[in-house]
Amino acid sequence: MSQSLQVSAYDALASVNVGPRGHSLLPGGFGKTMLAVGPWSPTAVRGEGWRIWDDTGRELVDLNATFTSNVHGNAHPVIVAAVTRAAANGMAFGLPNAYEIEHARRLVQRIASLDQVRFANSGTEALQLAVRLARARTGRSRVIVINGSYHGWGDSLLPTMGAKAERGIPAGTLAETEVVAFNDVAALRDTVSENPKQFAAILLDLLPNRIGMVPPSDAFLEEAMKLSRQHGIALVVDEVISFRLGYGGLTTARKVDADLVCLGKMIGGGLPIGALVGKPDWMAGLNPMHADVLEHGGTFSANPLSMAAGMATLDLLDEAALTHIGDLGQRFRDRLVEPLGRHGWAPRGQGSLCRLFPAFARDNAEILALQKRLWWALYERGVLVAKHGVCAISTVMDTDVIDRTADLIADAVEQLA
Ligand SMILES: Cc1ncc(COP(=O)(O)O)c(C=O)c1O
Repeated sequence: MSQSLQVSAYDALASVNVGPRGHSLLPGGFGKTMLAVGPWSPTAVRGEGWRIWDDTGRELVDLNATFTSNVHGNAHPVIVAAVTRAAANGMAFGLPNAYEIEHARRLVQRIASLDQVRFANSGTEALQLAVRLARARTGRSRVIVINGSYHGWGDSLLPTMGAKAERGIPAGTLAETEVVAFNDVAALRDTVSENPKQFAAILLDLLPNRIGMVPPSDAFLEEAMKLSRQHGIALVVDEVISFRLGYGGLTTARKVDADLVCLGKMIGGGLPIGALVGKPDWMAGLNPMHADVLEHGGTFSANPLSMAAGMATLDLLDEAALTHIGDLGQRFRDRLVEPLGRHGWAPRGQGSLCRLFPAFARDNAEILALQKRLWWALYERGVLVAKHGVCAISTVMDTDVIDRTADLIADAVEQLA
């Protein structure tokens, strides 16, 4: 297939615009790197159900779903009502609020192996807190991360993303992070065995998106669990994206004996959130009644609005809803396998998540370049995905929209080829 791709929207706009509507008020025109699909981007105006509209008047099928967060689509009436009630009741307080306890109750009911919750404002914060807890309890400083797994933008965990991501992180911090190859059981075993008393935590993602949405093997998970038990290393599972794949997330589905699970995105119902769910032994470091309590702040952590939106989201996401989006996801991938496969692309993922992956690409730079071009080809056809080709199916979709959208994706890939 030809590598000289041509997507008119991207190439033409590249020379004339800077950022969304040419805004020089934002560095490079963008508020975050994740949104930079080129030197220019449309801006969002409104969303309803599985549709959103941009400032050019274009209607888009929202498969981005705010980077997988909006599991019930945009402005779901039940979630809007819950947030409106919480807002009318005072927005946020300098006292504990009852929502926080009710949300926590839902999380530990879903992840039956864990007992306590601490809320934060993002997935990154939850992961940062997990690492601090692990270091404080073990008295060790080093952490093991899997090459290519994204765990947010905190200093300790970013080195998984390669040399470019290491800029601005002190050498001393980088030296505390050991990066192990994905699914390499021997490398994981050897790394720990060489000096087990150095490691505070092993970080795992059960469907790492940036690696290409392929699950870790049973053998890899078994080894991580064994090493963590043998050497008292915290096993930390990042379910910021994958929690929407099962009632108790993939931790429960794959029977992973995690000490700490980090959540975010979907559990906030579209509002900012992070959560650390853990075993009491590990969570004890956050008990303010203890003299050696760890520092964890966050003016808006556990704010009533995020809690209310999150609770409504979880209540709507029962087994029937999970089966519905899981079935739609399977149908979506099945319909894409052949037309994408013809051009070397693969619809990877599981359940309600799919990543449109250029399996023929030689390195990360080529993968990203291809996916940006696909993004624009899809945008021209009225479909919004994430910059990395991630598609997230929401409960408000049906077979009709899934089939039509899959056909538009097949057409876009055909055009790129
Ligand atoms: C697997 C994973 N972990 C952590 C994060 C960080 O979450 P947040 O963007 O809420 O800080 C992300 C964000 O995309 C993620 O995909």
